[in-house]
Amino acid sequence: AKGLPLSGKKVLITAGPTHEAIDPVRFLGNRSTGTMGFELAKKAGDLGAKVVLVSGPTHLSIDHNSIQLIRVTSAQEMYEACHNYYADMDVVICAAAVADYRPKYIAAEKVKKKEGEMFIELERTPDILMSLGENKKNQFLVGFALETQNELENAKGKLKRKHLDGIVLNSLKDNGAGFGGSTNKITFIDKNLEIKTFDLKTKPEVASDIWQEIISRIHA
Ligand code: C5P
Repeated sequence: AKGLPLSGKKVLITAGPTHEAIDPVRFLGNRSTGTMGFELAKKAGDLGAKVVLVSGPTHLSIDHNSIQLIRVTSAQEMYEACHNYYADMDVVICAAAVADYRPKYIAAEKVKKKEGEMFIELERTPDILMSLGENKKNQFLVGFALETQNELENAKGKLKRKHLDGIVLNSLKDNGAGFGGSTNKITFIDKNLEIKTFDLKTKPEVASDIWQEIISRIHA
């Protein structure tokens, strides 16, 4: 793998949704499929990196010599897996759709239905990306932002607040962008607030574009 742009680099990527247990058979989740994160991992492997891919529940699998896939379920497990590997990493991309809230209590037995309304008390999950930003040494740290309003301003705010080196903005206003689909339309913003907007592309093409942006900055 010598001579490739990511030869000798270690890369950590988060992907997919998280599932937050309510009881032994139920959870809170979201519609993320993990596709964008898996494509980023594949591309990094092809470009010569050694990759740790930490993924929440997904139907995807990956067979690549330089990718180690670690499957987790909850935000807490994803947090722990990421921090286990973080110190050693050169580039980290958080592409997972991590739950922001989880049930405060997990019932030990299946919750029975009864008459009337029912309430589930929620508490915040750890913000994995934020915690990585706060503990950053030399890693190049990239996050995703999925915004429906004031997209650029919100993405820039996130970039600063989470101490990121770059952020990938997914616009939900654009047809074909975001969750589930096979295409995406992104804007890349770096920490100097240099902004680059891309056309609607397939997720493998989007992964190439993102890596090109990162590679040009880690070798600069
Ligand atoms: O603040 P917001 O959730 O919009 O930020 C999105 C970014 O933060 C994504 O890169 C996502 O992977 C990451 N994130 C995380 N842990 C959370 C919530 C979001 O790593 N609990």
